[in-house]
Amino acid sequence: MITKEMTLADVVKEYPSTIPYLNEYRLDYCCGGHDPIAQIAKEKNIDLEPFMQELERLAALPKKNDLDYEGELQRFRSLSVPEMLADLERSHHVRERELMADVEALLNKILVVHYEHHGEELSSIHHHFALLKADLEEHFAKEEKLVFPIMKKSGKPSSEDIAYVKGLEEEHSAAGDLIKLLQKETKFFTAPEDVCPTYRRCFSQMEALVEDIFMHIFKENSIAFPEYYEQE
Ligand SMILES: [Fe+2]
Ligand SMILES: [Fe+2]
Repeated sequence: MITKEMTLADVVKEYPSTIPYLNEYRLDYCCGGHDPIAQIAKEKNIDLEPFMQELERLAALPKKNDLDYEGELQRFRSLSVPEMLADLERSHHVRERELMADVEALLNKILVVHYEHHGEELSSIHHHFALLKADLEEHFAKEEKLVFPIMKKSGKPSSEDIAYVKGLEEEHSAAGDLIKLLQKETKFFTAPEDVCPTYRRCFSQMEALVEDIFMHIFKENSIAFPEYYEQE
């Protein structure tokens, strides 16, 4: 429940889904978001009632934990191999490229703003995230332009074809190692007490990215690739 007495920082902390809407109004929910909503609306000449209604609507949207993973995997399993591959490109590849761009920008921002108190850990997180992003961008390109087109051909895969796909599995493991490092360095994406909402937003977006990558790799390693290996 959002009240007029709450600050924008409070709203965002509880309901990150409201951020794009606040950005539209160019409202500072970050380091300067400490005034009550009623006061901000007055200062910025915003019609309070519809503004509150829209915030409530966005806050009520299902959180990512409410996603039906079971149903999603059932849907994915029912596809043919070429359909699975096209589906992965359309969903996870697109979403993760967006999330990586978002996290990269947020990380650069908080690295500067919080350098004084959190410079050491943020530098390391920034560095390892950059490695993960570079690895995944090259991996997606390889899948889309080289390996998936091979896998989309019908018939029994040759040993050379299979070697290409096994190479992808090795790259997944390497990405998994970097993710484990990031989980450790961010204490599983728990922002320190003394930081601003941008810092929290950065960590929650990184967490969303990692969740998406795990589901993505699971679908490839455990469903699509085994299905391909068994193709006659
Ligand atoms: Fe992929
Ligand atoms: Fe992959």
